[in-house]
Amino acid sequence: MRPKCFITRVIPEAGMELIRKHLDADVWEGELPPPRDVFFERVRGVQGILCLLSDRIDKEVMDAAGDSLKVISVMAVGYDNVDVQEATRRGILVTNTPGALTETTADLTFALILAIARRVVEAVQFVKQGKWKTWSPTLLLGEDVYGKTIGIIGFGRIGQAVARRAKGFAMEVLYYDYKGREFDGGKRCKTLDELLSHADFVTLHIPSTPENKKIVDKRFFEKMKPTAFFINVARGDLVDTGALVDALRQKRIKGAALDCTDPEPLPPDHPLLSLDNCIVLPHIGSASEKTRNEIARLAAINLIKALASEMPPHPVNPEVLGR
Ligand code: DGY
Repeated sequence: MRPKCFITRVIPEAGMELIRKHLDADVWEGELPPPRDVFFERVRGVQGILCLLSDRIDKEVMDAAGDSLKVISVMAVGYDNVDVQEATRRGILVTNTPGALTETTADLTFALILAIARRVVEAVQFVKQGKWKTWSPTLLLGEDVYGKTIGIIGFGRIGQAVARRAKGFAMEVLYYDYKGREFDGGKRCKTLDELLSHADFVTLHIPSTPENKKIVDKRFFEKMKPTAFFINVARGDLVDTGALVDALRQKRIKGAALDCTDPEPLPPDHPLLSLDNCIVLPHIGSASEKTRNEIARLAAINLIKALASEMPPHPVNPEVLGR
């Protein structure tokens, strides 16, 4: 008999194809996450759940699923939406999809850096609004990226991929690693303050954990240069959004470009959306056709392998496998 699973959204075809072939899958077809009561109902008695980063998988979901639940496969590299500690306590394996999105996310980081520095979004709006009358020597002047200093917080796979791109722009690459590790590809800053006080572009590439929520706070922005830009393609809740709004309004920093926000999505009347010195994207860091198909395929393989009692490619809590 094929294992029973709940798939919380229709995912790209490379994953759906595998799911249809190997699993007895109940797929939620809505665009938004299933309401909690529906979620509880649909997971009852399943062996696996394949979820997105916007699905909260906590104790209540695990209780609703019951003892049958063996695997939670997250279609993302970040798995902060899952209570991994609780899953581990219950012997439930959690998996994720690292690697596949590294270069795609680094590309988008650079897109944001260039867009905020060179005022690309403002310029597009300017043209669309019919304001373009002539070439002007002082129209929409921005900042150069080439030859500047980039400060990368978190020098893992994506941080290092951003550094490789920065080298092509002749940038000085500084990085800060919270665990104090040394890497090739940049100059390590011993303290976060050292990075913040030197970088023209500060870009965040760390996971969200219970310990580092809102680590980007008022003090963080005070340490940045007033001419510097802040970029976030990691997770919105790493940032104190109120402090960011204040820093942008008071011109404590020059600008921000965000692919992740807190809350997510932002309501249309949110202050961040009314500021000229801020760009917000709807969490599309990994959103290329090829990469999203690959992530979906990996998430499906993780689920299928784990339910067949084989080692999945990307276990988050492999310790449960030995039990
Ligand atoms: C992730 O994988 O964690 C990204 O945020 C979405 O692809």
